[in-house]
Amino acid sequence: MPSPGFLEIARSEELEEGKGRPFHLEGHAIALVRHEGSVYALEDRCPHANAPIALGPVENGCIACPWHYAEFDLKTGSVLSGPACESISAYPVEEEDGRIFVSLTPLPREGT
Ligand code: FES
Repeated sequence: MPSPGFLEIARSEELEEGKGRPFHLEGHAIALVRHEGSVYALEDRCPHANAPIALGPVENGCIACPWHYAEFDLKTGSVLSGPACESISAYPVEEEDGRIFVSLTPLPREGT
């Protein structure tokens, strides 16, 4: 059973290692990313010009915006390089029995 407040968003088989994929949960656009065995959930909207982060390349614990390559930390949503200058929300994730659950209460932000 997922923890209280976590909602099912996807099945594990929908995610490929090293890639992001866009999902919607209760009106929120969420990028789910599987990287080195863990699943991360980020707000799927780049603060620079609203690009869908989920479609960007994943490398070394980061995902890059597919439009102008601002980089964000997968664990925290912190912006690591521009042109975006704000961080994005990162959400807690649980994976259990082939299903992925997300809490829509964002993790505390680091930086901006
Ligand atoms: S839209 Fe993401 S860096 Fe420009």
